[in-house]
Amino acid sequence: MAINQSTAPAVTGVRGPEREPVTLDVNGSTFPIELEPRVSLLDALREHLDLTGTKKGCDQGTCGACTVWVDGRRVLSCLTLAMSCEGHQVSTIEGIAQDGELHPMQQAFVDHDAFQCGYCTPGQIMSAIALLREGNATTDADIAEHMSGNICRCQAYPNIHAAIREVRDADDGG
Ligand code: FES
Ligand code: FES
Repeated sequence: MAINQSTAPAVTGVRGPEREPVTLDVNGSTFPIELEPRVSLLDALREHLDLTGTKKGCDQGTCGACTVWVDGRRVLSCLTLAMSCEGHQVSTIEGIAQDGELHPMQQAFVDHDAFQCGYCTPGQIMSAIALLREGNATTDADIAEHMSGNICRCQAYPNIHAAIREVRDADDGG
């Protein structure tokens, strides 16, 4: 697993293998659905809730493209069972703009041209905002270390780090 993401909530008790009702709280909305207990949070978001902003890169915990927040802490949704998130608040890239305004980190990514293909970008932004909340962006070395779980095949790292520094220095990390 990438080093900077939190561990996901644990599943308790024996579940499945059949589909079961589960209620997910995502971006402030409640979604009652039925899932097999083996379904990852990533697949639940993309395939059951049509929230396709969260990307599947490796599906094995090494790229960070699937980063979301559970109770405000960044997790790898490909390694998180959807059912373990019942009773917790899930936040995805679709939920961070407010009242039609981009989140300052989204705007900084645009302003700094911090993407090329854009595939890693939702995960990068979710990690970047969390990074500031965690207080792990004090130095350039901190930023590099604590964003190291989010891989960018287009090598946009200098621009990503510039965007993070701008939001950090504006003291508006959200
Ligand atoms: S898709 Fe989850 S870490 Fe790569
Ligand atoms: S912008 Fe293409 S992988 Fe990061």
